Amino acid sequence: MSVRRLAEDQVQPAIFAFNDENSVWAEATIRKYPAGRQQSAVIPLLMRAQEQDGWVTRAAIEFVANKLDMPYIRVLEVATFYTQFQLKPVGTRAHIQVCGTTPCMLRGAEDLMKVCQHKIHHDPFALNAEGTLSWEEVECQGACVNAPMVIIFKDAYEDLTPQRLEEIIDAFEAGKGHEIKPGPQIDRIFSAPEGGPQTLNDEIKPVRTNLDPHPSAEEAAAAASIPPAEAARPKDTAPETDPKLKTPATAPAAAAANAKAAEKQPLSATAKSKPAPKTPGSAAEGAPPEPGAVSGDLKPKRARRKTTTEGES
Ligand code: FES
Repeated sequence: MSVRRLAEDQVQPAIFAFNDENSVWAEATIRKYPAGRQQSAVIPLLMRAQEQDGWVTRAAIEFVANKLDMPYIRVLEVATFYTQFQLKPVGTRAHIQVCGTTPCMLRGAEDLMKVCQHKIHHDPFALNAEGTLSWEEVECQGACVNAPMVIIFKDAYEDLTPQRLEEIIDAFEAGKGHEIKPGPQIDRIFSAPEGGPQTLNDEIKPVRTNLDPHPSAEEAAAAASIPPAEAARPKDTAPETDPKLKTPATAPAAAAANAKAAEKQPLSATAKSKPAPKTPGSAAEGAPPEPGAVSGDLKPKRARRKTTTEGES
C-alpha cells in the first residue's frame, strides 16, 4: 500500500467550483439522501470533481466538505483512502491503469507496463513530456478472464498484447480514443471463446412444444393400451428364487423323507426301534431337525424315570 498524499502546493489550484451542469447534478445527488445524511454523498461528489478537473485537488476537497457540512479532515480521509481518486495531475488525454494482479501478470501485464514506460514515462504517475499521458499499476479490475487488461477513464481494454496497447495509446494521444472499441481486443464477444461459440452449436428440435396440436382421443387411447415396458424389471432366473420353494433350499428331498417316516412310526415304537436309515443330509446325520420333529433321544430318558418310580413304590 503506497502512501497517498495531496499534490505539492505549486500544482494545487486556488479554488474549485462545479460547472453549471455538475452543480445541478450535485444538488440532485445530495437530495437522494435523508435529511441529516447528506454526508453519504461524499464519494459521488468527489468522483464528479475528479471527472471535471481530471484529479482531486485540495480546493475540491474543501469545496465538497463545505457543501456537505463536513470537517475537511473527513473528506480528506475518503479522498486519500480510495485509490480510485487521483491526488496528482494525470495525463490530459489518457491515464492508463494497468492491472498487475496475478491473472493479468501471468498473461503478460509486465510487458504492458514496459510499453507504458517506453511510450509515456519510466515512473508511474509521472506525465509524459506533453502532459497528455500518464500511467499506473492497479489491482484487479474484475476482468481476469480476459487478461491482461488496462482501464482508461471508465472503459476496460482487454485481451491485450504489447502491440495492441501501443496502438491504443497512440490513438488516445492523437485525440482519437473514442474510435477504439472497449472490451476484448480479439475476435470474441465479452468472455466467449475466440472465434465464436464452440459448443451447443447444433439446432436441437424439441420433442414437443406447446404449439404442437394435442393428440386426438384415439391416439391417446392407443397410447394408453400399450402395456408397460419390462425394461426395468430385474431378470432373476436363479433356482433358489423360485417362488414355489417354501423349505430351505438345502436337501429338500431328504427333509420330506424324514417327515414321512416320522408320520408312519408311533412315538413309543420310534424310541425302541433302531434308528431310521441315514440318508445324506438328514437330521440323523447331524443336520438340524425339521421344525416340529421329535428327537429320538427323549423317549429312553422318560422310560428310565418311570421304571425307577415303580420300584420305589
Ligand atoms: S487480475 Fe487483472 S483484471 Fe483481475
